[in-house]
Amino acid sequence: MHLDNWGLKAKKLGYRSRAVFKLEEILNKTNALKRSKNILDIGAAPGGWSQFVKNKKKDASVFAIDILDIEPIEGVDFYNVAVEELDSIDKILALKGSFDLVISDLAPNLTGISVIDEANIFELNDITLNVAVEYLCKTRGFFIIKTFQNSMLKKLKTKMSSIFDEVQVHKPAASKKQSAEIYLYGAFKE
Ligand SMILES: C[S@@+](CC[C@H](N)C(=O)[O-])C[C@H]1O[C@@H](n2cnc3c(N)ncnc32)[C@H](O)[C@@H]1O
Repeated sequence: MHLDNWGLKAKKLGYRSRAVFKLEEILNKTNALKRSKNILDIGAAPGGWSQFVKNKKKDASVFAIDILDIEPIEGVDFYNVAVEELDSIDKILALKGSFDLVISDLAPNLTGISVIDEANIFELNDITLNVAVEYLCKTRGFFIIKTFQNSMLKKLKTKMSSIFDEVQVHKPAASKKQSAEIYLYGAFKE
């Protein structure tokens, strides 16, 4: 498999995905990781983002979920469950309202038919946003979500702006220019 510079760097540092550098850039530009004690990683496989936040915040409790299984990561509590079923995990449910940071790199399988893909992306983004709002601590919670530049983006951004005090759009350097993916960041006033 051909690895670009980000992929080579990830391999060298022992990270499971080059996606860690997208998260790193967003975290460096925001306060999101500063006071994080409880972190939830949605759509976590193969586990790069979870590895990264655990490395940066050794004393944080990191919970991760995905519909795909992952190799265990030391210090990360992983559950093989869909975001739609998150409430079924008692250990995570017990922390509802106490998460400081929810990160989602979740991406649905694409069909190539844009009208279907855009609707699927929006639906999953919307579910993830609703989950994040329920699980975040509203006095200092931060949310980062991967989405795509398409006809539904404005609707998602508008909804986030109606919930969070601050919303930012990020296109990290490690995100391929030709890819429509972008990241939205939401924060409550501290
Ligand atoms: C781009 S990958 C995440 C990469 C990860 N951030 C990393 O650094 O290793 C997107 C993930 O979203 C997951 N996913 C898709 N639909 C999901 C759902 N409904 N619930 C949970 N995870 C889902 C996929 O299985 C896939 O592993």
